[in-house]
Amino acid sequence: MDIREVPFPIFGGLYEQDDIDAVMKVVTAAADNGNFFPLPEEIDFQNMLAEHEGARRAVAVNSCGTALDCCMMALGIKEGDEMITTPLTFVCTAGAAVARGAKVVFADIDPVTMNIDPSEVRKKITERTKAIIGVHFSGLACDLDELDKISAETGIPVIYDAAHAVGAKYKGQPIGGRGLANCYSFQSNKNMTCLGEGGAVTSNDEEFIEKVRQLKTFGYVYSGPAPVVTSIGFNYRMTKAQCAVGMTQLAKIDRVVKARQERMTRMSELLADAREIILPAGHGPGHGSHLYVLRVNTDRVKFSQEEFSSHLKSNYKVGTTKHYEAVWNLPAFSELGYTDMGCPLAARACDQVFSAPISHRTSPEELEYIAWAMKQTIMDLA
Ligand SMILES: Cc1ncc(COP(=O)(O)O)c(C=O)c1O
Repeated sequence: MDIREVPFPIFGGLYEQDDIDAVMKVVTAAADNGNFFPLPEEIDFQNMLAEHEGARRAVAVNSCGTALDCCMMALGIKEGDEMITTPLTFVCTAGAAVARGAKVVFADIDPVTMNIDPSEVRKKITERTKAIIGVHFSGLACDLDELDKISAETGIPVIYDAAHAVGAKYKGQPIGGRGLANCYSFQSNKNMTCLGEGGAVTSNDEEFIEKVRQLKTFGYVYSGPAPVVTSIGFNYRMTKAQCAVGMTQLAKIDRVVKARQERMTRMSELLADAREIILPAGHGPGHGSHLYVLRVNTDRVKFSQEEFSSHLKSNYKVGTTKHYEAVWNLPAFSELGYTDMGCPLAARACDQVFSAPISHRTSPEELEYIAWAMKQTIMDLA
């Protein structure tokens, strides 16, 4: 095959004329009336998101990181508390608790789904555990029934980091009403993006989501003519134009997710005979299909994931990235003394993982090329 360039990062969102029109409408009106206050777009977007994700309410914020922060604040997480999560995640899942002075406790993953293993969560619960955060890794929903069961038995709230999972389903149902709350990301490379940044919290718990709403707007409670400040909050709002485009993005998210599912399923077919690579589980209907995360089968090959990815890039111009470095290895965490806390499966996965450059825009030819380049790389390094 001829060498062609397939870079990482992958394409996020799908911007078409309706998205451009939505932004232009906001800016044109503001040029006339000087009003960039987010209403009514914010309320309309929140209602639309809650309905799409199967939750009673949604609160828009400016990132998934601030969504997680609002949840930690609303739960009153503080020094001396513990929060259990997976080590196979982006920094801010764990950072949300550490930023509030709490300790993160890592629970190992299920090596097939790569999601947190509920039986490992049970082993890590102490009297100091104040929250559990499950991450729908790559867009594949966690074992929600088991995690919710743990929550019901222990009274410990479960929050889900759904940064990869807008549009994902669990047992055929949307995920946004599960657990105590769910935190979404609409950052630039996500399946839908609100002009490059954005996030939301969804929940069925009226009291909790109202607290989140207050915290993302200076702690304001609206009970009379002027807002009353009842807690210390921040300005974590999305802008008017972001909320407007959130609605056009959401209107097409199922189409985007389906296109990604089809491409990722096709890639699994193309790589089915490459036994040197471990394919991701669960791709197809219901998968949020944000990332296609493969693993170099280090039991069968002599080369490392780094050698594989570097050869693939320099010889075949196929970019990959690593989701993720184990959180305990990030200097901010290792300097605080964090270690693997008995998570051998996550440690092993973190040595093996790499994500392929697949999005809803990847063409059939590019899919074939990526698969061919990976197989060539395996042969070159053998
Ligand atoms: C699992 C996970 N959680 C949280 C985030 C943070 O999202 P944001 O950039 O919207 O804060 C990301 C970003 O990539 C992520 O992958």
